[in-house]
Amino acid sequence: MSLERVTVLAPATIANVGPGFDVFGLALGEPYDLVTVERRQGRGVKVRKVEGLGGKQVTLDPQRNTAAVAAAEVLELAKADFGLSVRIKKGVRPCSGMGSSGASAAGGAYAANLLLERPLPLEALVGCAAKGEEASSGTLHADNIAPSLLGGFTIILSYEPLEVVRVTPPPNLGIVASLPDIMVPTKEARGILPKQVDLKKMVFHVGHASALAVAMARGDLALISRSLKDEVIEPVRAPLVPHLKEAERAALKAGALSSFLGGSGPCVASLYDKDTSDGRPIAEAVQEVYRRQGIECAAWVTGWGEGCRRWEP
Ligand code: HSE
Repeated sequence: MSLERVTVLAPATIANVGPGFDVFGLALGEPYDLVTVERRQGRGVKVRKVEGLGGKQVTLDPQRNTAAVAAAEVLELAKADFGLSVRIKKGVRPCSGMGSSGASAAGGAYAANLLLERPLPLEALVGCAAKGEEASSGTLHADNIAPSLLGGFTIILSYEPLEVVRVTPPPNLGIVASLPDIMVPTKEARGILPKQVDLKKMVFHVGHASALAVAMARGDLALISRSLKDEVIEPVRAPLVPHLKEAERAALKAGALSSFLGGSGPCVASLYDKDTSDGRPIAEAVQEVYRRQGIECAAWVTGWGEGCRRWEP
């Protein structure tokens, strides 16, 4: 018998991961959004409520709400004969660089799929959720929704057609996601990017991105640390995130393997080795940089995580 209502946990994600702009993404153990969908009479998707962290900033308009757009795409693709109402509990603040809109989109698609008599394959949900992401950021990028749906480390091999490769990262890979109280809308952070890339920088990125993918698959933390570099995107976006470089230096000094801009920012993401550190000194070092400037900074000391799943508390 088909479900009437279901709640899904949709994890936060870090996109780009250094050299992989719009290509690499990493699912986090926490935080996460909770997306609940319920079958309703009539067609179409309605957003009933958005609560939680930054919930007031999230639109209830079903044409622009990422979870609603993604859920509607799933219903349309499956030719479903019912409508849905959606409720979202945000654990991932909007404009954070931690895949807030992507988590809601992934959760909306995944939850709607669970109500279908014949669910679509997970790969098809990536395309549906990407439409939700597009409604929010203005461009179709799938490097947050892919890891939020599939978990682990994901690589967008191609956008047309959409093809994703998933890699299981090493179990000892820890992540500190530090979030200063600064808002960076993704649309704005994309608007300032260059349209052309210098050939020398392209060569640098191909080398580092390839090595990073191999390092993730092999579980080679030293190679992850050496290959996680970005010469194209982060330098242009750094002015949008005050004290970014200082925060990254503090994280490295406190033992991080790498520290870099999470997604479009302002998240400062730092990787660490769980076998030799518990990650807290890294979180404290970044928080201290912002505290000195009078800026609040939240932090999650976590690891990489699995993708969307049914939430049964
Ligand atoms: N790849 C996207 C960007 C991710 O950097 O604009 C947004 O979180």
